[in-house]
Amino acid sequence: MSANNTDKEAVIWTRLGGTPRRMGRLYVTDKECRFTYDDHYVELNLPGLGLVYAPEYYGKTTISRPRSEKFDLLPPLQSLVPPQQQDNFQRNLALKYLATKDKKGLSGFDADWEILKISGHGGIGHIDLFENDEIAEGWYHNPPAHTLSEVSDELSFSLKEFMTWFEDDIEILIQTVGPTPSVGGAIPKLLLSIPASGWDGRIGLPTRQKTPGITDVVLKFEQKNRYPGIIELETLALDMHRQAGFEVPRYWACNFKGMPALAVERFDRDQNNNPLYTESLYSILASGAPLNNNFDYQYDLIAEAIDKSAVKIVSDPEMSKEHLFKRLILALLTGNGDLHLENLSIYDKHDVDTRRSFTPVYDPTPMRAYSQHDLLSVMPFGNYGELVDKQEAPVKLVEAIKRFANRSGISDNCRQELVQELLAGSQDYSERVAELKTVPDENKTRLIKRVAEVRKKLA
Ligand SMILES: Nc1ncnc2c1ncn2[C@@H]1O[C@H](COP(=O)(O)OP(=O)(O)O)[C@@H](O)[C@H]1O
Ligand SMILES: [Mg+2]
Repeated sequence: MSANNTDKEAVIWTRLGGTPRRMGRLYVTDKECRFTYDDHYVELNLPGLGLVYAPEYYGKTTISRPRSEKFDLLPPLQSLVPPQQQDNFQRNLALKYLATKDKKGLSGFDADWEILKISGHGGIGHIDLFENDEIAEGWYHNPPAHTLSEVSDELSFSLKEFMTWFEDDIEILIQTVGPTPSVGGAIPKLLLSIPASGWDGRIGLPTRQKTPGITDVVLKFEQKNRYPGIIELETLALDMHRQAGFEVPRYWACNFKGMPALAVERFDRDQNNNPLYTESLYSILASGAPLNNNFDYQYDLIAEAIDKSAVKIVSDPEMSKEHLFKRLILALLTGNGDLHLENLSIYDKHDVDTRRSFTPVYDPTPMRAYSQHDLLSVMPFGNYGELVDKQEAPVKLVEAIKRFANRSGISDNCRQELVQELLAGSQDYSERVAELKTVPDENKTRLIKRVAEVRKKLA
């Protein structure tokens, strides 16, 4: 029998609540992914892997799920695997690192598994995967002393060159930052930490324990060839969302060795740098239904799941459905056609008490500026564009918005008010797009045109 047919084993730990603890054991056979919570973990009443695969429902009973094309692992664990695309930054970073450890030519799930063992901990969210307990304990108990270094010269690699896909000096990047915890998504990014007072040109590795004066960030880089001006666009979109009253993390547009970049404070960490339960809607919904893509679910069904699912997705369903509706409208009004299920997440917010709600806004980038993303098809709502009820023409935008609002329990009056508010709040958007300096004219024109069309329909 070849090595590929050996069951794979790993352990899942978490630093939820500030203390590293083992959550349970993971086995992956050729057919199934299996996970069992530890006895002591079940008794703690903490969140588990995810909302659906929660200790309160499964207790000590092994959770088993057949492997499928898109999910070798339970969805909350699958989220730790960098996307499959061959040119994915995180995936390549990890593979090159593995190659330096004599693990070359990996493919398929064997590659994913090796990547998980080195970068499946310390990333976004509350779940840490390790090869075994000894490695987990070593990782938690011997964190390197936190230091900040200037981005300018001390990093002796040219990340700029690296980003142009990608010179051979990845070795040096790896030596400098090590195997970095994984982050999903398509845009190149690194998890780093910066002074809590804000970006000042100094960076450190992500925190692993309480680190006073330091906050964790996601640092996203611009790939000039593919998405020219994207950093300016994302920054503007974050601004528009803040202006419209959404909770938006602090962010700093900056320059990383000559490359435009955007540092966004992480909302999945608390003031003591401890993780908070965080899970994307994709992970939550795919845990309960057979989804294959992050756009496989109508927004209307998200609203329905918020109301009717046996699993409590949020603490305040009315508020959350209104939030989702407003996110959709502002996405339409800013030319973001990319508000799919991985760009919407749920987390446990701790302030006065713990409340489960949508996370602050992330990734609101107006991707319709780029011809290859000038679509709304990854955010299906209200049967938009579909033929329904024997009608002759597909459902139009305004009709679809009404349908979705209705299914979200939002009254006609309330819907009109919300739309008017968002229209007013985004009035200066196109002017501000026109003023951007790094976005090519062609992309600005496309975006402004899309936004004008939507505004006209919604007015
Ligand atoms: N500020 C943040 N705090 C915590 N997690 C974040 C933050 N921003 C992004 N993420 C996580 O990282 C993932 C990738 O980031 P995102 O901004 O969506 O990048 P991309 O443009 O590549 O999709 C998101 O799906 C989300 O899980
Ligand atoms: Mg994203």
